[in-house]
Amino acid sequence: MAGRLHDQHILVTGGSRGIGAAIVEKALAEGANVSFIDIEAQAGDALLAALPAKDRCHFGAGSVTSAADIARVHDQGVKRFGPVTGLVNNAGRNSYADPVAMTEQDWDDVFAVDLKAAWLVAREVLPGMIAAKRGSIVNIASIHADMTYPGFFPYAAAKSGLVGLTRSLALDMGKHQIRVNALSPGYTETFLVTEFFAKNDPSLRQKVLDVHPMGRMGTPAEIANCVAFLLSDEASFVTGANWRADGGLSARFAGS
Ligand SMILES: NC(=O)c1ccc[n+]([C@@H]2O[C@H](COP(=O)([O-])OP(=O)(O)OC[C@H]3O[C@@H](n4cnc5c(N)ncnc54)[C@H](O)[C@@H]3O)[C@@H](O)[C@H]2O)c1
Repeated sequence: MAGRLHDQHILVTGGSRGIGAAIVEKALAEGANVSFIDIEAQAGDALLAALPAKDRCHFGAGSVTSAADIARVHDQGVKRFGPVTGLVNNAGRNSYADPVAMTEQDWDDVFAVDLKAAWLVAREVLPGMIAAKRGSIVNIASIHADMTYPGFFPYAAAKSGLVGLTRSLALDMGKHQIRVNALSPGYTETFLVTEFFAKNDPSLRQKVLDVHPMGRMGTPAEIANCVAFLLSDEASFVTGANWRADGGLSARFAGS
């Protein structure tokens, strides 16, 4: 049976590890051709070499903060697999800045990756999608777009902006039959979460698990499953949405 993404070329940013790597693997398993860009060249090469479907996958090292890098990797992918039909803006970073001590450069560095890059990559792929009258874009936001954590400045602002970008693109691209959605993961076991716990009291991990209704965090594969749905034709009437995949964490009221 053909996979749900069998006729698609999916471009994933930040695909070398974590949630992005799981999205690359899931899209390949669903039959897509996949291109991915990541600043971590070694990790990207290692993932590519380990993939069973590596003949349907292209990796290009580069930064999503650079329009030139994006154009290079996009062009290489398009030469191999044709126009991009699905984009996953996944590359992201945490930020633990102090709002008073933070410099303008620090601010720009966070927003360059967590917000501006999503527009830069969309700008690259949209002409092909518009010409094809077909496309799906999934922006990996965060539950920090709705609620946040002290000491995490200004991650919530950037992720909230990404949800706003999602709404604007969904409205402007709807007439071209291009869908644009955000997916907001909660705690998902990756490098970013390990880094977050390492910066905090060792007891925090258990406290976090205790407030999760199912008593656990998510896996990258569980986030990738939601992304595959949003990319696929099964989500044909879903656009402008921000889907949460947080194991019910944000359904909880303080003290409950
Ligand atoms: N892990 C979580 O709990 C969680 C929760 C909510 C949202 N998110 C979001 O999910 C996305 C993936 O996070 P993750 O947990 O897999 O993190 P991760 O750090 O494991 O993976 C992020 C990937 O993005 C790449 N990347 C970073 N900056 C880049 C740049 N400038 N250019 C190209 N690639 C770059 C990294 O090299 C890495 O491969 C991020 O947008 C993150 O904000 C994660």
